[in-house]
Amino acid sequence: VNPRVRVFCPATVANWGPGFDVLGVAVRGLGDQVLAEVVPGEPGVELAAIRGDGGRLPREPERNTASVAAASVARRFGIRLRLELDKGLPLSSGLGSSAASSVAGAAAAWLAAGQPLEADLAGLLEHALDGEQLASGARHADNAAPALYGGAILVHSPFESPPGLKPLPLPPRLWMTLVLPELELDTKTARQALPQEIPLREAVRGWGRLGGLIAAFYTGDLDLLSRCLVDDLVEPVRGRLIPGFAAVKAAALQAGALACSISGAGPAVFALSQSQSAAQALGQAMQRAWQEAGVASRVVVTQPDREGVRSLPLEL
Ligand code: HSE
Repeated sequence: VNPRVRVFCPATVANWGPGFDVLGVAVRGLGDQVLAEVVPGEPGVELAAIRGDGGRLPREPERNTASVAAASVARRFGIRLRLELDKGLPLSSGLGSSAASSVAGAAAAWLAAGQPLEADLAGLLEHALDGEQLASGARHADNAAPALYGGAILVHSPFESPPGLKPLPLPPRLWMTLVLPELELDTKTARQALPQEIPLREAVRGWGRLGGLIAAFYTGDLDLLSRCLVDDLVEPVRGRLIPGFAAVKAAALQAGALACSISGAGPAVFALSQSQSAAQALGQAMQRAWQEAGVASRVVVTQPDREGVRSLPLEL
């Protein structure tokens, strides 16, 4: 075993328009950390501290995504862990906060048990999804998988166990503008708002676009990307739950974004461009639009994170 390990897990942008529950991308610069220490006692976990959540996350280990995922690994390897969670991600923001905590928890426990992360990433994902199930009521892997592997991941077989995944290339020089409003949208609520059935014609339109988007990833065809990163199924329903969303999206497209949609279940919104300066200009335009709707927001200009979850030096 490794007596003490610290793990960082990045934020993720899920859905990407037509890829509801099956497409997600890890992003640089934002994420959660978990410190795990092996302690004597029954297999399982103790949740000793949570920082950065303003006291809002449940402290009971069976109600917290990081500790649920870590406990699932700890029981498998017969170890007991003392955990500390540092939330770098805002809660209920649409940036994969629960997945980052789940993956960080599972990975920290995995490393503490003396297992290399690369040994069984698919197995590790299953443990992380135990945490995701708790947070959102569904084992969707479109945040957890890219958080774990890094880069862009297609969940091509979402209902298999473990889910079937395919890492995708991303067009070079892709910049992402994330705008985080001072609003929260609970993922469970944002999922319950969605229709259970969709008309065949809408489904056809959706899978045509998802296929086009993936072709754009492989070929780097940005016109195709712009045309296909469009969603008429989920975005309109959730857009109504996010005050100012329509204006923010219009501002992004007006300012030259390649595409703009809701990040995950929202309320964060992401827009794509080809340079850092373009991404910053999009951020200003989107923030202004939200301001005019009476909503303060924070802009993060970033790029995909290619690495995924990773261990950090302990002194940090
Ligand atoms: N695919 C999930 C959803 C992501 O849209 O509900 C949640 O972050």
